Amino acid sequence: MEPLQIPVPGERTSQTIRRFRDEGGPVVPIELPGKVNAWMVTSYESVNEVLINDGTLFSKNHLNCPALHDGTIPPDWPLRQLVQGDHLLTKDGDDHRRLRGLINRAFTPARVASMGPRIQQITDGLLDGLAGEGEVVDLVRHFSEPLPIAVICELFGVPEEERYQLREWTNVLLFHTASPEEAAGAAQAMLGYLAAFIERKRAEPGDDLTSGLIQAQEDDGDRLSDNEMLWILWLVLIAGHETTVHLIANSVIALCAHPSQVPATDDQDSWAKVVEEALRSRNSVLNVMFRYPLQDVQVAGTKIPAGEPIVVALDGADTDPVRYGPDATLFDASREPDVHVGFGRGPHFCLGAPLARLEMRIALSSLFGRYPGLRVAVDEISYTPSLITEGPVALPVVLGPR
Ligand code: HEM
Repeated sequence: MEPLQIPVPGERTSQTIRRFRDEGGPVVPIELPGKVNAWMVTSYESVNEVLINDGTLFSKNHLNCPALHDGTIPPDWPLRQLVQGDHLLTKDGDDHRRLRGLINRAFTPARVASMGPRIQQITDGLLDGLAGEGEVVDLVRHFSEPLPIAVICELFGVPEEERYQLREWTNVLLFHTASPEEAAGAAQAMLGYLAAFIERKRAEPGDDLTSGLIQAQEDDGDRLSDNEMLWILWLVLIAGHETTVHLIANSVIALCAHPSQVPATDDQDSWAKVVEEALRSRNSVLNVMFRYPLQDVQVAGTKIPAGEPIVVALDGADTDPVRYGPDATLFDASREPDVHVGFGRGPHFCLGAPLARLEMRIALSSLFGRYPGLRVAVDEISYTPSLITEGPVALPVVLGPR
């Protein structure tokens, strides 16, 4: 079979993934930008088979992929900065466990839970601002984008006036429409900013997670190095907002299309189910990059040669009709909850899942509580041009009445 090319001009990445799965099966050969030959796993079975491996069969380190080695990585490869960084998503086994252990010392469940009242306050402030915005409001610009940026930046102690720049760099890094020079420039600028930011926090620690990470220490005295701190912040500041921006907006679109599924504001159990269904069927993270087989492997009966990159299509798994039936793509929050892979699975399971779940619940319940008549104001929505994440570029809504 000839490799399928992705991205497909004019087609949303979620549609491409579902088409590849339905036409090509659970494991399909693909060609990525830069003419990189790769594979996509697309079904619930094949995705889980790859994700649950502990790093002994599939590595996350690009040095285990000849096509992406330093020096030979194609110059026009758009996601270069993401797959070559020195962070959690490019580490395996003990190296990965050690880093996560140190991060967990500071990023505790108690710290996440303590963010609840502040997230509510930020949300309420943004909703107050919406009322003055006139009849049609772009919900991305005024709500789903500023909220996660404010939350993650506040958690890590990034001052307000420096936040907008982080959003700009992230857009350049994740969208495949940016040129390689732009992406490299954004990555370098962001790393330079963060190095100076860490120095500032060392000199003047605060009550934030950056200061907590600087102080984090295992019982045996092991600590995070400067380089590790730098890359943790780089990854978390990107992964910690982009994903949530789009999932809030995708959920609003789904709830506007299915108004009977909007729970009562204080029915937090039902809101939690709405969030899980959004993660399953309208996820903002469609694909995760990459797993490199350390030897020739069989996945769902197909042979993948050692070292060839595998794109893991979470959206393919979570809308797989074999698992979820013929209406798998339908948004239905009354479904029996299932082990979806919206936050991944296995050793790289999302570090920020508890924070994201909390933030999503507060954002959606507060928005629909304040504006029960909210509806989407346009027929056509355009989506972000990314291989990894998907969400509307803008979301014009009318706040009510219905
Ligand atoms: C990893 C999704 C929010 C930080 C992941 C992975 C997924 C994911 C699918 C696995 C990647 C892989 O296996 O290659 C999401 C979604 C979110 C969200 C859908 C929101 C709706 C967040 C937030 C943070 C965060 C708020 C930060 C606090 C991370 C980090 C990793 C990760 C650091 C890497 C973990 C590791 O490799 O050990 N996320 N995420 N994410 N996420 Fe999230």
